[in-house]
Amino acid sequence: MAAERVTRLAVLGSTGSIGVNTLDVVGRNPGRYEIVALTGHRNVKRLAEQCERFRPQYVGLADPAAEPALRAELKARGRVEVEVVVGQAGLAELAALTEVDCVVAGIVGAAGLLPTLAAAEAGKRILLANKEVLVMAGDLFMRAVKASGAVLLPVDSEHNAIFQCLPSHYAAAGLQGSGIRRLLLTASGGPFRTRSAQELIGVTPEEACAHPNWVMGRKISVDSASMMNKGLELIEACFLFATEPARVDVVIHPQSIIHSMVEYADGSVLAQLGNPDMRTPIAHALAWPERIESGVESLDLCKVIGGLHFEAPDQQRFPCLRLAYAAAEQGGSACAVLNAANEIAVAAF
Ligand SMILES: NC(=O)c1ccc[n+]([C@@H]2O[C@H](COP(=O)([O-])OP(=O)(O)OC[C@H]3O[C@@H](n4cnc5c(N)ncnc54)[C@H](OP(=O)(O)O)[C@@H]3O)[C@@H](O)[C@H]2O)c1
Repeated sequence: MAAERVTRLAVLGSTGSIGVNTLDVVGRNPGRYEIVALTGHRNVKRLAEQCERFRPQYVGLADPAAEPALRAELKARGRVEVEVVVGQAGLAELAALTEVDCVVAGIVGAAGLLPTLAAAEAGKRILLANKEVLVMAGDLFMRAVKASGAVLLPVDSEHNAIFQCLPSHYAAAGLQGSGIRRLLLTASGGPFRTRSAQELIGVTPEEACAHPNWVMGRKISVDSASMMNKGLELIEACFLFATEPARVDVVIHPQSIIHSMVEYADGSVLAQLGNPDMRTPIAHALAWPERIESGVESLDLCKVIGGLHFEAPDQQRFPCLRLAYAAAEQGGSACAVLNAANEIAVAAF
């Protein structure tokens, strides 16, 4: 379906895994999207390449010290005319620009909070990948979304799957009013799913980042390996779908073909399936309620038949999930503490 008009995008974290996948989908749908702003932290080479290809009006660099290197990269590419802004405040300004309709929140970690919050306060359509925003400041962020009339669309594959399985009136009726019994978040179990507690002691960052199904940034890969990622997603689900932790269950599904499920009061369970490729949820959120090409291959059901398995998470070997449930139940600042402790632990690892 043809869009009525071009959607003007700011891609926060364009140099990362989510950002690169977003630009891939945008590139497959010429004429439908215009890139107004791109942002990165320090990867000036990739940022300059993206500016050359997508010709944004603005480019944001979180680390001001990298500005000379970015300008040199841009100069080396000839006439790439783009306004450079730096620092967290610069990124927040880009997220709130009047000439931007839609903001892709693809920064990793707490650093994404201020720019994503600026997008929410400015009433943008927000494609949220940066789950830490909701974990550390879910109440504040959701209040800003509500107050401004921003449209929040989940890009995290599990939450995007749940969103696709919900009835269109759920936002007004709430989960209970929509006859929903519970949400089922699927988890791959990560690269250490079958390792014993003893074997987990000596694992390396390289092993942790070698995810069996998904290619992602290093922080979320480590989170997946420790299963903190599923804990963060549990909290994310509670804020996104206005529900309590007791209504969100986690099930291990090592093939990552079912991306999550919604169980209804009548016993129906709706699932969203697809190849594990972030371009599907990104394309879904970019075009919603329409559908566009994402470049993702068709799911070969014959290949996976007999290969869909499920198991309960082991909260003894993977205590992060247990900690996240406890933080979600406690509320207040407990989730912010959990998120901060996790970011520091992952960086140290
Ligand atoms: N990757 C996935 O498949 C996936 C799936 C679901 C959800 N998510 C979520 O999406 C978010 C991004 O993940 P990712 O895997 O795309 O991460 P990533 O590949 O590490 O990319 C992170 C992006 O954030 C930028 N960045 C890093 N530190 C920053 C800072 N201090 N200030 C501003 N920008 C900063 C990076 O810039 P430089 O490149 O210049 O360092 C890069 O553009 C995370 O919250 C993650 O949990 C990711």
